[in-house]
Amino acid sequence: MAAIKEPDHLDAKFYKAAEAFFSACSHLGLTYDDVTLATLYSEILPRDTQLDTTLAEGLQLNIPIVSSDMDTVTEARMAIAMALNGGLGLIHYNMPEREQLSEVSRVKNNVHGLIQDPVKVTPEQSIGDVLSMIEKKRFTFSTFPVVDGHNKLVGLLPGHVVKQRYAKRKIAEALTPRGQVQTINKKELGRDPIAKADRFFTEQPGIHKLLVVDDQDRLHGLFTMSDVERITQERNAQFKPARDAHFRLICGASLSATRNAFGELDRDRILAHVGALVEHGVDAVAVSTAHGHSKGVGDTVRMLRDAFPKLPIIAGNVTSAAAVEFLADCGADAIKVGQGPGSICTTRIVAGVGIPQLTALYVASRAAQKKGVSIIADGGITKSGDIVKALTLANAVICGGILAGCAEAPGDMMEISGKLYKQYRGMGSLAAMKDGSAARYGHTPDPTRKVAPEGVEALKEVAGSVDRVLAQLIGGIQSGMGYVGAANLAQLRDKARFIRVSTASQREAAPHDVVELKTGK
Ligand code: XMP
Repeated sequence: MAAIKEPDHLDAKFYKAAEAFFSACSHLGLTYDDVTLATLYSEILPRDTQLDTTLAEGLQLNIPIVSSDMDTVTEARMAIAMALNGGLGLIHYNMPEREQLSEVSRVKNNVHGLIQDPVKVTPEQSIGDVLSMIEKKRFTFSTFPVVDGHNKLVGLLPGHVVKQRYAKRKIAEALTPRGQVQTINKKELGRDPIAKADRFFTEQPGIHKLLVVDDQDRLHGLFTMSDVERITQERNAQFKPARDAHFRLICGASLSATRNAFGELDRDRILAHVGALVEHGVDAVAVSTAHGHSKGVGDTVRMLRDAFPKLPIIAGNVTSAAAVEFLADCGADAIKVGQGPGSICTTRIVAGVGIPQLTALYVASRAAQKKGVSIIADGGITKSGDIVKALTLANAVICGGILAGCAEAPGDMMEISGKLYKQYRGMGSLAAMKDGSAARYGHTPDPTRKVAPEGVEALKEVAGSVDRVLAQLIGGIQSGMGYVGAANLAQLRDKARFIRVSTASQREAAPHDVVELKTGK
């Protein structure tokens, strides 16, 4: 029997559970690349692993990934893409409050597959006008709803008449008249508009467009059969969109501990804004600052908890057990952990503070367990393996840089030496602070005062769509879980065994001694 026990014992000596491992390394701050996870006996196929996570009562994600509340990462487009993939987007607060409300509304009112503002034409235009518009804007479609000056539906211009030979004709002569156009009143869309549209296309063979109108026959949107078919297929996907009880996509919004002209917490303003966010359907607010273990953040969280007892509150950022306990006692449900690991952060260089991310996560996770709150690993994620390691201690991760090059991130692409880039900047960079985020770093936006930036302005190579990036990340997380034999995230946290790695082994872990043809990105 001893011979059978021996290998187990040997493994336990080298590959330690979190408690033993981090306690043994208490003299050293560790981050993702400093450790690796041991593979364990597994009956779990990666594709069968479950990635759902609960960050607070009423805040459940189908994948444990949140997009960062940064002004070059998350506005409505990113938040929609994140929620459609099962995650969450936190709308940043470097914009006027009413704009943040409308970004939240955009996410909450998004009907996947419904083109809410379709390109329209008017009866007075000629087919030639439409042909030039298609060429100029490079549209790949040629069927357009026809409306009058009050957006009232007049008909549909079918693609088969949008031809050069009819260029001189007015649209009024060529359109399919209103009476023959298939429409649905927006009140009839119900909880599942895609299912409704799908049924309609099945019942009406040959019809490929369905227009949405209101009681006054004004145009409100357009379903196309091809979109509906694609989405219906996606529904069989393993990771469903993250939705609220009313079938709307979930959305978070971020705020800071705003102060008034006297330097006091601006209670009225914060309460009024969060009240409006709640009315707009926000699913969580994040009190996002660089130093969450502070009176201002504590007071803000306490005030919000009293005013909105059921609202999921995320708060941070912190890196200590005392800070997690403090924010949990103030009423936070989920706590952001990370000070200085971000790809654009200079906090550790400028202020000389911050804790390497994995050690910070371990310390925070033990306090979080005690208090019954969740933690989110914020910053420093550069590859899917980092996420697997983070999830051995945290309930979710926040990503900034890895998503900033996506088409759905705010900002335009720019071409430099034949390569495409998007801007990515720290919220503590000078430019971002001037645009409003100074409060996050405890500064005023007053340009006459000297402030030390804690972030840089940078570029990210364009990375394609959020769907694509998340698919890669999710694939990696599932592989990691398969190796560890974890069917879900709770098992991953329970089973993970760690070992410290040497610099030589870090080199060994990446492609080496080859000429790379494809980077594997
Ligand atoms: P990644 O590594 O995903 O990090 O790009 C994103 C996270 O970094 C934090 N953040 C900052 N930290 N100075 C900092 O020290 C900054 O200017 C800054 N801007 C963002 C933030 O937590 C974000 O989610």
